[in-house]
Amino acid sequence: MGLSNFVPQPLYREEEHRVWRTLYARMQERWDRYANLRYLEGMSALHLDPDRIPRLEDVNRFLCPRTGFVAKPVGGYVPAYVFFDCLRRREFPTTVTIRPADQLDYLPEPDIFHDVAGHVPMHTDAAFAEALVRFGECAHSAAELAGGIRDRKKRMRRIESILKAMARFFWFTVEFGLMRENDGLKACGSGLLSSYGELGHAIESPDVERVELRLEDVVHQPFEIDHYQPLLMVLESFEQLYDMVGSLERWIRSGRLDEVAPGEPQISMGDLKSFLVAEHVAA
Ligand SMILES: [Fe+2]
Repeated sequence: MGLSNFVPQPLYREEEHRVWRTLYARMQERWDRYANLRYLEGMSALHLDPDRIPRLEDVNRFLCPRTGFVAKPVGGYVPAYVFFDCLRRREFPTTVTIRPADQLDYLPEPDIFHDVAGHVPMHTDAAFAEALVRFGECAHSAAELAGGIRDRKKRMRRIESILKAMARFFWFTVEFGLMRENDGLKACGSGLLSSYGELGHAIESPDVERVELRLEDVVHQPFEIDHYQPLLMVLESFEQLYDMVGSLERWIRSGRLDEVAPGEPQISMGDLKSFLVAEHVAA
């Protein structure tokens, strides 16, 4: 499952390396101020080149011995089940294109800077890596459940609700999470850690509401992707995240996520279908 989404990593033009260099250089001072400690340790463990877009095999030489995770190159959209199933196998689908030089600040889609400089440093941390694997197990449980529901409409509705809950939880933690550290706040979400403008805003702006992460809230909390986040959630530790993903899986199995609050994100037919195809291979 998923192998067909993998592509070879291309060779990059000089102007593409220049985009990486510019993004990396201006983030450095922000990472020092606002990134959580595990991220900073991960960054130094990976030995990323500030001047050149990394080759994923070089990243994996330092990453894989730590947690078993590898960054695998993908081209474009990866259906939700395939994405989570990769995590279960400790493979991180990694976008290999880089944003254009005239769109340094805002890009709705992930690029290699978001994926490698934003996500991958966290994958060097054991507890965080285990939490990602558990996300994959949640998807597996959801697909198994779907396989047991005969009525097609009911099956689609149930998977849609579970997937909405998973997407919200992933969004408010892995993508946009904050973390308490020594009585202060740091960023741990990759969407923040790869955004020059939003990183400082997330920690310091009085316009952002910051609340404790609670599973019973986050699964019902809609989010929007096209502007700075007005609401962020604060984790205590990656061990807490790991425990909460375990609870998420229990809630999937017990039916507690079958009717989460409506609203964003909308779940695409491609994402829904990826779970229904998966039911044949999930056992
Ligand atoms: Fe991301």
